[in-house]
Amino acid sequence: MLMPQRQTSALHAHDRGPSTFGESLTPPLYLTSSFRFEQYEEGSQVARGEHPGYVYTRSGNPTTDATSRVVSVWEGAASSLVLASGMAAISAALLSLVRPGDEVLMSPVQYGGTYAVRHGLGDAYGLTFTFVDMTNIDEIKSHISSKTRAIIVETIANPGMVVPPLDTIGSLCQERGIALIVDNTFATGYLYRPLGDGATLVVNSATKYMNGHGDTLAGTVSGTIEALAPVKALVSQMGSIASPFASYMLWRGLATLPLRMDAHSRHGLAVAEGLADMASYGRVIYPGLANHPQHRWVRDHFHGGQAGGMMAIELAPDVSPDDFMDGLELFSRAVSLGDTTSLVEQPSTLTHRSLTADESRIAGIHPGLIRLSIGLEDPDDLLVDLGQALKRARHAQ
Ligand SMILES: Cc1ncc(COP(=O)(O)O)c(C=O)c1O
Repeated sequence: MLMPQRQTSALHAHDRGPSTFGESLTPPLYLTSSFRFEQYEEGSQVARGEHPGYVYTRSGNPTTDATSRVVSVWEGAASSLVLASGMAAISAALLSLVRPGDEVLMSPVQYGGTYAVRHGLGDAYGLTFTFVDMTNIDEIKSHISSKTRAIIVETIANPGMVVPPLDTIGSLCQERGIALIVDNTFATGYLYRPLGDGATLVVNSATKYMNGHGDTLAGTVSGTIEALAPVKALVSQMGSIASPFASYMLWRGLATLPLRMDAHSRHGLAVAEGLADMASYGRVIYPGLANHPQHRWVRDHFHGGQAGGMMAIELAPDVSPDDFMDGLELFSRAVSLGDTTSLVEQPSTLTHRSLTADESRIAGIHPGLIRLSIGLEDPDDLLVDLGQALKRARHAQ
């Protein structure tokens, strides 16, 4: 019996559809809302779970399922769901675990949309959110109470590039009976698998590296079959499943996930090293550099010690952030990340603009903090572009 590597399993994880016309090499794209039954009784048997098949795409579709099997290979999960966006995944994962009155611990450094959940979903469902430094286990322990139901944390936190010790947090959660939700967007299951370190559910904005081409919105939730069952029920009620077309696009992106993540990581390291040599313009924050506070953890726990393609620059006070971003020629001024081409954004005015002044201060977000998503261009070209824009931005003062 063959025991293939993950990339081999991922490439072969889909069904090939009915063989009336010969089996399809790629997963067939079932662009249909409903499924037709030859005999009505067959449909009700499928609906009752007594017969395999599909009834209605909001509850399940073969293309979406084909993609979810590939996601499970990468996350090392028994089961996965492909949803309409990363935020759909985060909301469904959280709501599947909490009840009114519960407390949730979250990091002050995280994606702005997840931050916003504390007021939106939090107020609507009577949840209390407490901010905790996830790199400090004693601080996490000191905030756990009888009401603490879940911890939500990012593998590499957006935008400060903080990497919490997820193995230690996972053990703590298992000891205390607390659910751990990990947002694995910056790393993906290729670089790191949180489920192996005690996470209850792993979510991804698949809009980013998993799809990898900047042309699809999608999200994923992965875990055990038992952990996924309430998520699946909620997704059907909220109607937040991914469309078959988005699922297909994600499947296509995932076929090259390891190749792209290796390249993003290689280019990320080369750019970060180059920026470190231009230190008079600012400080680069990248977990692949030896001076990053959690570098050793990344080196020991991430696949090949690779750190991906995301980084932040804290510009020197005499470098104008606007002139720097406007002076870039190869980087696109745009939100999102993990695309084939390089992107630049200022969290304080875009992705994290909803944070209060106090929250921004704690999260280390200020106008001089600029987030870079390093694409698949030649890193030497990117460094020339960054160098000329930094130089002009200082002279523009
Ligand atoms: C770390 C992280 N999680 C979740 C999201 C939300 O994903 P989506 O935009 O697909 O809803 C983002 C979006 O930027 C993100 O950066």
